[in-house]
Amino acid sequence: MTSLQTFAKGTFASAVGLTTLSLGLLYYGQNYLIYPAAFPPGSRTDVPTPADHGLPYEDVTLDTSDGVKIKCFLLVQRRRLLGSGSETKEQNNNVDTAEEDRKFASSRPTVLMFHGNGGNIGHRVPLARIFYSKMRCNVMLVSYRGYGESEGSPSEDGLTIDSQTALDFVRADPTLGSTKVLCYGQSIGGAVSISLAARNPDAIYALILENTFLSLPRLIPTAIPWLSPFSWLCHQKWDSANALVKIPKTTPILFLSGVQDEIVPHEHMVGLWNIAIGKINPDGTLKRTASGAGSDPGEKSATDGPKEDTQTNVDGVTTTANLARDHNRSPSGSGRTLAEEEEDADSKEYVEYEMEDDKEVMVSKRTRYRVWRQFENGTHNDTCIQPRYWQGVWTFIDNLLPLPVEAYD
Ligand SMILES: *[C@@H]1O[C@H](CO)[C@@H](O)[C@H](O)[C@H]1NC(C)=O
Ligand SMILES: *[C@@H]1O[C@H](CO)[C@@H](O)[C@H](O)[C@H]1NC(C)=O
Repeated sequence: MTSLQTFAKGTFASAVGLTTLSLGLLYYGQNYLIYPAAFPPGSRTDVPTPADHGLPYEDVTLDTSDGVKIKCFLLVQRRRLLGSGSETKEQNNNVDTAEEDRKFASSRPTVLMFHGNGGNIGHRVPLARIFYSKMRCNVMLVSYRGYGESEGSPSEDGLTIDSQTALDFVRADPTLGSTKVLCYGQSIGGAVSISLAARNPDAIYALILENTFLSLPRLIPTAIPWLSPFSWLCHQKWDSANALVKIPKTTPILFLSGVQDEIVPHEHMVGLWNIAIGKINPDGTLKRTASGAGSDPGEKSATDGPKEDTQTNVDGVTTTANLARDHNRSPSGSGRTLAEEEEDADSKEYVEYEMEDDKEVMVSKRTRYRVWRQFENGTHNDTCIQPRYWQGVWTFIDNLLPLPVEAYD
């Protein structure tokens, strides 16, 4: 995990030193603050490849609809991975093996990785490796315009087009086209993921969001305090709070939050969570007054545990059947519609604690489709190396699409 520890994500903090910029520069130059693609030094030229980490991959150059070439890495699953003790079979890559590989790859999820605002996709290969080798997912590392070896310069509109281009590529691929597409977004990559899912409600199967924010203007007061009087000048909005409510309620979302995040305050993730479970509106006002959204743990019946719910697959048919079953099991007699009952069930929070140094620590909360995990010691750029992080991601993905037993060999 050393490579994980040494990779730098780049932060909004790098903006804090630039106190001499004029307002004009601020308006026109803010993209340099928001997207420090040249940080750390060398990020525009030195892009480590998956091959540097012993992983098979393809260089994929995508042409965006506005004529920019972005250079991505694609890792397609194989039935047997190199280094799993079956190299001889692997090398003898006959037609049967190729077909077996293709079938396996098309049965596994495809993870679109959207990174934070510094560095390049090469710095995230250690994370891609976990999705690829441990969780056996297909992985696409999406290189935004203006980052790494991609052309162009970054902006909200540009990154939005880039993410759409990557999704369209996956959907059109003969092997990956039918796979369940998950987005994994860190920091601003979380905003990219939320926006993509809001615009493609049927094409994005699930989201994994780490240390991302409600919106950029709402982040400025804490991230760049001297700029707060000028947050109206911020033309890069990344309004995740409002985009989140456009994502179907049945889209599973995993929230991964570092409590010690010094760049994006923890409260932003808490806010997104509360919006995602229907507790508050995007503007932060309380959504419903009645019964605290059914969050009273006393309402939970013994047979109605969260484990069972989250292991339920979320294909439309299964979901409907389960909701109907739940409804029959505990009719409230309140005269409310089934839709209202369902909404309550979906916003009901279950909290899990674990013992940590003789004290109880809250490690996760869940509703039917949303899971929250927090990391007491996690900061903005080291949350993904906190204990239980990858176990949490693994559990989330495995509940959606269990890894077949034979793939463990
Ligand atoms: C995280 O960022 C800090 C500076 O904000 C840096 O000192 C540290 O090395 C970085 N850690 C990782 C894991 O990249
Ligand atoms: C957080 O850090 C403290 C001090 O290093 C340590 O004692 C504690 O076990 C850590 N907690 C977690 C959840 O990693």
